[in-house]
Amino acid sequence: MKITLYLFAFLLAAKTAFSAAPGDKYIAIETQHTALVIRVDQDGDPTIVHLGKRLQNAAEYGLLPANEKRGEDYTKIYNSVYTPAGGRNLLEPALQVAHADGNPSADLRYVRHETQTVADGVVLTTVFLKDPQYPFEVMLYYKAYQNEDVIEQWTTIRHSEKKPVRLQKYASANLYIPARKYYLTHFHGDWAREMNPEEIPLTAGLKVLDTKLGTRADLFQPPSFLLALNQPAEEEIGEVIAGTLAWSGNYKIEFEIDPLRNLRLLAGINPYASEYTLAPGKEFTTPAFLYTYSNAGKGQASRNLHRWARKHRIPQGKGNRLTLLNNWEATYFDFNEEKLTALFKDGKKLGVDLFLLDDGWFANKYPRNNDQTGLGDWQENKQKLPHGLGYLVKEAESAGIKFGIWLEPEMVSPKSELYEKHPDWVIKLPNRAEYYFRNQLVLDLSNPKVQDFVYGVVDGILTKNPTLSYIKWDCNAVIYNAFSATNPNPSHLFVEYVQGLYKVLDRLRAKYPTLPLMLCSGGGGRVDYGALKYFTEFWPSDNTDGLERIFIQWNYSYFFPAIATCNHITDWGDQPIKFRTDVAMMGKMGYDIVVSKLDEKELAFSQQALQTYSRVKDVIWQGDLFRLASPQKNDLASLMYVSEKQDKALWFSYLVGNRYREGSQAPILLKGLNPSKKYRIQELNVYPGTNSPINHSQSVYSGDYLMTVGFNPQVDARRASVVLEVTEAN
Ligand code: DGJ
Repeated sequence: MKITLYLFAFLLAAKTAFSAAPGDKYIAIETQHTALVIRVDQDGDPTIVHLGKRLQNAAEYGLLPANEKRGEDYTKIYNSVYTPAGGRNLLEPALQVAHADGNPSADLRYVRHETQTVADGVVLTTVFLKDPQYPFEVMLYYKAYQNEDVIEQWTTIRHSEKKPVRLQKYASANLYIPARKYYLTHFHGDWAREMNPEEIPLTAGLKVLDTKLGTRADLFQPPSFLLALNQPAEEEIGEVIAGTLAWSGNYKIEFEIDPLRNLRLLAGINPYASEYTLAPGKEFTTPAFLYTYSNAGKGQASRNLHRWARKHRIPQGKGNRLTLLNNWEATYFDFNEEKLTALFKDGKKLGVDLFLLDDGWFANKYPRNNDQTGLGDWQENKQKLPHGLGYLVKEAESAGIKFGIWLEPEMVSPKSELYEKHPDWVIKLPNRAEYYFRNQLVLDLSNPKVQDFVYGVVDGILTKNPTLSYIKWDCNAVIYNAFSATNPNPSHLFVEYVQGLYKVLDRLRAKYPTLPLMLCSGGGGRVDYGALKYFTEFWPSDNTDGLERIFIQWNYSYFFPAIATCNHITDWGDQPIKFRTDVAMMGKMGYDIVVSKLDEKELAFSQQALQTYSRVKDVIWQGDLFRLASPQKNDLASLMYVSEKQDKALWFSYLVGNRYREGSQAPILLKGLNPSKKYRIQELNVYPGTNSPINHSQSVYSGDYLMTVGFNPQVDARRASVVLEVTEAN
């Protein structure tokens, strides 16, 4: 990685037909394969002149045209690095402020920049900008992850004006991308049908992805997208930018095709109801926007993000995860100590690492026997658990498995002691009727006392039960009637809610750095890299129907790695247990079933599958993901994980359509193997009493053969899911 400042001599500029001028400065933010190049002209206007493949000769950045203009940029800042509103700008701004004197404009000129290596393979470039008329500064931060080709970008705003400045819009990132055409893949959904992709060509004007839900912010639309340049996104070819905002609250991502047919991309906190009053001497730091550029399709883009996430973001991204048995669908709210201790034994018999006690274990005045009551009263329910959590932890441990627990600490039930004691801790409008999402309300985490309470709940349980080994952190309500009774700045609520949540999680992680934490939000209503700084894994959806999950997991996989994706085998759907198990194996596997109801074969199969999983999980968790056949386009879904050394691969294929004779009619071309290595193929998860047509063959194939001619996993209606292990043959 080199961060370079080039001063180009007049001679060079004069020789070119481009608009580089004498004295222009170039700031190149480079990773191994990509570059974002900023040009600073004589007036100090910083603009983006390149985002894409890194040039071999950095000196040639000086030859880049100003912004690939196909007409006139009246403002000279269509391609601004951070477009301020109110001055020359004619398009959607990145920054909108009202200065202390009421002036509604900003102008941002380059002051200086600096670069430093902040970790092995991580280089941070900071560009300092200032308004010439005001003591108002903006710092743009670009963290370039060399080996993963990921850039993490955020912004800090500060000033020393006489009175507060009102920040009306404060994006994390402002990018500029010239291409002939733009194809945006964004995702939408709702409870139990998360992450449905939609690819659209962008047309002139603005396309907005956003949320205003506050807490489970991406229930309808996550802050993640794929942007293909010139042609629709393909798996292994074409230019694709994968982007995602690391923020667990309201966000706004805007794509604007400008009059020159170039694309301005803005990503940040949603300015909706979120004007931020910034006091003199204070700083406001935006969340980070993460992006990766690939010229080898969306497959490479997602592999970049996975590698980055495992190495740089998710706690224990290279470490272990616990298989578990959850009791939610096995018991719902109806359990007691006897029932649970029997389930511990079942979990042990099955062969999982941990038992996870879900919702319903707490509250006494308003017992949590359904979803109407008790949230906020985090004391063991004496009727169900007379001996408390400590007893359960011990019982589980003596049955030979670890114990974990469900919490929903950001929430409160209208029927709870917490609500009675602290009505001012609840987000609601004083003169409006309360309106509930899943019969509950949200606590005001912008209030430091509420932060202390939430921290205290979790810390208290962990202190009392030091061997408690897992927490599932749920979040089932959006924010209605957004208002804080205690926040002096009502329009800070949405922003300070998320900041408050992160403060709590920072404190917890400082004390419990290795505790596995599952991020859950009534399914996948909150999956982003802001939260995944703290959580080891996430719950993608309550929909665990094997067939549905293929699609849901497939689409999450563009942004999030398998090691963080919790997949449980449950009774949802019509697929046999083999199918559901094979699907759950493509990530972090768990169960939410009544083990005692499994018949002999189902139990034997599941026990064996867990043992197999324990042997192969590292390839799934740490391997590179190659998508071979998309369920969106075929009656078959097929994908594989390949170890970094290319000596092992796990290959999963599923029938997703049920037309007559559908299946893998022809060989599927494998990807990611070493062409000169030799491989053997072995079928895993063969159901008791059935035979694998593949395991009879002793054939050895070169990687070249498998990637050129392919191999038929023989998927059909009788073999609707097939898991193959591809191993280097010695
Ligand atoms: C929603 C979660 O997604 C479920 O797994 C379960 O934990 C319930 N909440 C419990 O209320």
